Amino acid sequence: MQKYPTLAVLFLLPLMLYSGNVLSNKQNITLSDDVKHAYVGVETCGMCHKSAQQGEQLNIWKKSAHALAYLALQTPKADSIALTKGFTTKAAETEACLKCHVSGYNIDKELVKAKFKMEDGVQCETCHGAGNDYKSPSIMKDKEKAVANGLIVPADREAFCKGCHNTESPTFISFNYADQWAKIKHYKPGNEK
Ligand code: HEC
Ligand code: HEC
Ligand code: HEC
Ligand code: HEC
Repeated sequence: MQKYPTLAVLFLLPLMLYSGNVLSNKQNITLSDDVKHAYVGVETCGMCHKSAQQGEQLNIWKKSAHALAYLALQTPKADSIALTKGFTTKAAETEACLKCHVSGYNIDKELVKAKFKMEDGVQCETCHGAGNDYKSPSIMKDKEKAVANGLIVPADREAFCKGCHNTESPTFISFNYADQWAKIKHYKPGNEK
């Protein structure tokens, strides 16, 4: 029984070092330890970010691989990657995998509104910050207020993407920013970059 704590530390140490590494790489991605506002989920954002006139961000996201990022952890391939990395849990239950594939998986229930779905993987709020306090029309239309209430609009897009698209990803090969942005690009109408 006395050996137990020592063993637990030995077992957790690689995991702790591993997460430390990812965290130092994170740019301004909303990882669970930073969350100060509640998550509302893509359908809530999508109410106003759906039509062609609004820029169709919801549809663009739905067609992207990011919408499938949680599903990607529920395959035999994912489980075998997790096993190879020394994890004893399934990939979809392993914190070191969830942290780049999902938002809101290990936070206070009060910070997760009913419509939020972890299964939506890398979603609007993973990149733009948890939205409960900026989603109202009067705040949303004033960017300064929205940012003060938790909105994130990544300034250095390439560095931001590389917070997850990096060698910490077990399947990482390379990341060409221009090609990859072209696959998920979305804008405010008239503000193409
Ligand atoms: C009630 C409608 C509404 C909801 C709900 C809403 N938005 Fe918005 N959003 C807007 C409007 C209006 C703008 C301003 C558009 C403009 O300036 O042309 C905006 C702007 C934005 C911007 C651009 C800010 C800038 O000016 O650079 C982002 C990013 C954004 N919303 C993300 C989100 C996310 C993520 C959610 C869900 C958490 C969300 N919005 C929910 C209406 C909404
Ligand atoms: C993988 C991360 C990621 C996801 C997921 C994502 N976005 Fe974005 N979004 C960005 C980046 C990066 C920009 C570009 C910011 C810039 O350079 O102006 C952006 C830009 C925007 C803009 C325009 C901002 C502007 O000033 O022109 C809006 C509006 C927006 N996103 C809304 C959404 C909504 C709504 C969703 C979900 C349906 C979503 N985004 C999903 C990363 C993401
Ligand atoms: C929070 C972590 C995270 C961030 C930030 C992120 N991604 Fe991803 N991205 C993922 C994950 C996880 C996948 C794998 C999803 C899958 O395979 O279903 C992925 C897959 C992709 C894919 C499809 C796979 C491929 O290589 O063709 C593209 C394209 C992509 N991301 C572009 C971007 C761009 C551009 C940015 C920055 C604006 C970005 N991502 C930011 C986590 C992230
Ligand atoms: C640092 C962020 C990060 C971490 C941590 C991470 N992933 Fe990913 N994962 C990504 C990104 C980004 C992609 C898409 C591009 C790539 O492969 O790098 C991805 C893609 C995948 C894919 C899809 C590849 C394909 O064949 O389409 C699987 C499966 C996967 N990851 C499993 C895992 C497992 C299992 C873990 C935990 C042991 C894990 N990931 C941890 C970021 C991450």
